[in-house]
Amino acid sequence: MAKLGVGIIGCGNISTSYLKLAPLFRSLDVRAVADINRAAAEARAAEFGVRAETVDGLLAAGDVDVIVNLTVPAVHYEVSKAILNAGKHAYSEKPMVLTLDEGRDLVDLAAKRGLRLGSAPDTFLGGAHQAARAAIDAGLIGRVVAGSCHVMSRGMEAWHPNPDFFFQPGGGPVLDLGPYYITDLIQLIGPVKSVASLANASFPTRTIGNGERLGQTVPVDTPTNIHALLEFANGATVTLSASWDVWKNRHPNMELYGTQASLYVPDPNFFGGEVQIAGGEGDPVDLDTASHPFGKPNMQDGQGRDRANYRCAGLADMAAAIDEGRQHRCDADLAVHAVDVMTGILRAGAERRFVDLSTTCERPAALAAAEAQVLLA
Ligand SMILES: NC(=O)c1ccc[n+]([C@@H]2O[C@H](COP(=O)([O-])OP(=O)(O)OC[C@H]3O[C@@H](n4cnc5c(N)ncnc54)[C@H](O)[C@@H]3O)[C@@H](O)[C@H]2O)c1
Repeated sequence: MAKLGVGIIGCGNISTSYLKLAPLFRSLDVRAVADINRAAAEARAAEFGVRAETVDGLLAAGDVDVIVNLTVPAVHYEVSKAILNAGKHAYSEKPMVLTLDEGRDLVDLAAKRGLRLGSAPDTFLGGAHQAARAAIDAGLIGRVVAGSCHVMSRGMEAWHPNPDFFFQPGGGPVLDLGPYYITDLIQLIGPVKSVASLANASFPTRTIGNGERLGQTVPVDTPTNIHALLEFANGATVTLSASWDVWKNRHPNMELYGTQASLYVPDPNFFGGEVQIAGGEGDPVDLDTASHPFGKPNMQDGQGRDRANYRCAGLADMAAAIDEGRQHRCDADLAVHAVDVMTGILRAGAERRFVDLSTTCERPAALAAAEAQVLLA
């Protein structure tokens, strides 16, 4: 497989993960980074031994085939558009865009130029979520009829040194964390048909708890406490509670209820974790998640817990798909449908009504262990 020359625009917090993890994958060779803040690009370039470019320099770089957009959500659209207009494949962090119109525009532009457009999240390619997918596809829980998801905390301002964007339109827990949940639900159940929600914000400001701006307050201009209902095209109904107004809770992240059994799915923000099937009498049964290459723990988190982290898997799959002439899994139709679900939830909350979605998508292809292995170096 030929290596793709990779460039990165946006050298903030998450760029470290991409630069650390890209070498795990045989198709990726990160060559240069850029940022509107030249010093940020130079610092990352020095840290990881790659070239620092201006944004225009990177867009014009002859050795770069695909550019990863790691800027803040408010500029994802304009930066991805510039990447495609420069004749390069684009892969964006989530959410790919903030409106359906932006999403459709990028999809059309990519198609017109014969370029690939992809988007995170790629955690649904992880061993845990692929084990859940295999269980559903094998009929082990029967038909999925319902589910519940909870992603609730007291917010992002305690750890992120520049948390402003989380609390502006385009941020909030639905657009920030919803992509992990909604994308996983789509790969497990299929596309969503309609949504409803209650959405509000319990706190008008947030106080930064980390970094150089410690103690500064930032305004809250988007809902931070959302209870949503999702109706899937196959008839399944799922509740999603997404909040940054909650100190503690004891809800599991994701449970799906089938006609034959229930499926306990771990946090879709991570690649690994425990997956269990529970039905009838007896204890829940653990599914094997660690024999999938993207389920094996390869790092420890801040609390010393083992984690499987294969961020870049979706980018690597897109690179392989270009080489093999097949559809990539983290594709733009999936990302646009997820944006439709998320913006639909926010609109439903603002207007206090059910919203029918205008987009749909195919479930992305499952990623078997052997197919994942091929992506690794
Ligand atoms: N931080 C995380 O843990 C995390 C995890 C998963 C996904 N993400 C996603 O990754 C993206 C970036 O998040 P982050 O936490 O790294 O943000 P950040 O604020 O730390 O970094 C963003 C960087 O983009 C640069 N930038 C902004 N506008 C630009 C422009 N027009 N052109 C070039 N550079 C520009 C900024 O200077 C900054 O260095 C977001 O979409 C976020 O949702 C973040």
